[in-house]
Amino acid sequence: MEREISEISGKALHELGLVAGSEALEGWRLTWLSRRGELSTLLSRLRDVPAEDRPRIGQEINRLKESLRKAYGEKKAHFDAAATREAVSSERVDVTLPGSPPSPGRLHLTTLTLRKICRIFHGMGFEILESPEVESDSYNFELLNMPPHHPARDMWDTFYLTENVLLRTHTSPGQIHAMKPAAPRPIRVVLPGRVYRYEAVSARSEFMFFQVEGLAVGPDITLAHLKGVLETFARQMFGRDRRIRLRGSYFPFTEPSVEFDMDCILCDGKGCRICKGTGWLEIGGAGMVHPTVLENGGYDPDVFSGLAFGMGPERIAMLIHRVDDIRYLYSNDLRFLSQFS
Ligand code: DAH
Repeated sequence: MEREISEISGKALHELGLVAGSEALEGWRLTWLSRRGELSTLLSRLRDVPAEDRPRIGQEINRLKESLRKAYGEKKAHFDAAATREAVSSERVDVTLPGSPPSPGRLHLTTLTLRKICRIFHGMGFEILESPEVESDSYNFELLNMPPHHPARDMWDTFYLTENVLLRTHTSPGQIHAMKPAAPRPIRVVLPGRVYRYEAVSARSEFMFFQVEGLAVGPDITLAHLKGVLETFARQMFGRDRRIRLRGSYFPFTEPSVEFDMDCILCDGKGCRICKGTGWLEIGGAGMVHPTVLENGGYDPDVFSGLAFGMGPERIAMLIHRVDDIRYLYSNDLRFLSQFS
């Protein structure tokens, strides 16, 4: 048995010396050190050794096992280190490769349009103000000359939050917010912002969209000023040859009230698909501020007059870029949105 032990020792170490890779090393471990390996077999034969020799022989087998384990561990560490070195060098970063550029965000088409609209009015001396999206019934309707049950309230399908609190249906309540702290000083303001309508979504209407409200109050403001302001805007927004037309209309907060059209940007007024053959494109509503509204804003209607208008930036953007469905604007599809900057 002792001879066998030293033979096994010699043979195992010799074979270990020939092992050249991790797979062969694992084969070696199975042969010599595993539960069914040579050393285990040797140990199981300890039974046959005379009792007085058993402790000594057993110790020798254990010593052999230890030395083989140690040799195995050193070899394995050697191979592992080599494998790690290879992995690191094969994954080395090539610092000369071009980087992948982060794609920058961009402004939304509506934001771009709002900014352009505001810039134009700012150039005419209008201040830019904002007013709340959640409004009281009073600001959205009553102070704009629509008492409870006034039939004109039906012009707007309203999201009510409580009986007296609602999502504004238009930016016109901003007129009151702008007038109150300023009266009796003259003011010129535009108020861009979101508005909400309880409406089915379609190619032409969303339940949330933007408006830009305009208001100028002073001692002698006339309808001619209104037309001049709108025409100046149209020319800066759409091109220098644009013309404006006012059509009689009705809004409770203006008297007289008009809707304003611009000659068609596609056919220059000859009539085409975009203007449905009329030669004119509807841009928004406007008028001279109703005396009651001036009063509600804190101005004496015998001394002051005002012009007001409201328009939709989405419609303006859609006309300029020939977008035929408003839903493209708010469905967050980058293929659409990334076309504008
Ligand atoms: N607020 C109106 C709407 O949402 C638009 C409007 C019409 C605004 C006439 C005005 C105006 O300031 O004078 O339909």
